[in-house]
Amino acid sequence: MHNDIETVLYSEEHLRETVRSVAKQINEDYSGKQLVAICILKGSLMFFSDLIRNLDCDVELEFLSASSYGSSTVSSGTVKLGQPIRTDIKGKHVLVVEDILDTGRTLSYIKAHLESLSPLSVKICTLFDKPARRCCDIQADYKGETTEDLFIVGYGLDYNEKYRNLPYVGVLRQEIYSKK
Ligand code: IMP
Ligand code: MG
Repeated sequence: MHNDIETVLYSEEHLRETVRSVAKQINEDYSGKQLVAICILKGSLMFFSDLIRNLDCDVELEFLSASSYGSSTVSSGTVKLGQPIRTDIKGKHVLVVEDILDTGRTLSYIKAHLESLSPLSVKICTLFDKPARRCCDIQADYKGETTEDLFIVGYGLDYNEKYRNLPYVGVLRQEIYSKK
């Protein structure tokens, strides 16, 4: 285990099972339908790549980068989007795939942006849901785990761009971010 990690919350095996069970629900709901799955970069890269390999409907892939955190553990409240998606989502079913739903600001912003492009539907899939700090009226349609109000890293999730490569998800030692 990495020295900066206090405890491992979700092992690789656990995450694999979680992703499978989320994919199962999506497969049931989108059976026979066409879907555009949008990976929210960078945090959901691992979840997205594992999830789509478990989907059996027709799926187009898109990538949208969003940032709101900077180098702190508290959301700045301002969401910045990177390059616009190239796929025309008008009249299509869209599934937004996110790593963690915290205050909800990022996903509220992204959802409103995508809805302005006239898709048939927009649903939200998040690996982690941290409802304690929610300040926007937004819910996930699909979620892997509900987590406590702890700062977690690994499996795509970062602190200051570090720890994304850890294959498990763990709680970051508080002294790592409080010494800043
Ligand atoms: P929100 O806009 O507050 O819902 O924040 C969502 C974004 O904040 C996520 O996409 C993550 O990038 C980041 N985030 C929120 N909580 C955590 C955490 O515990 N660890 C790492 N990143 C987090
Ligand atoms: Mg992040």
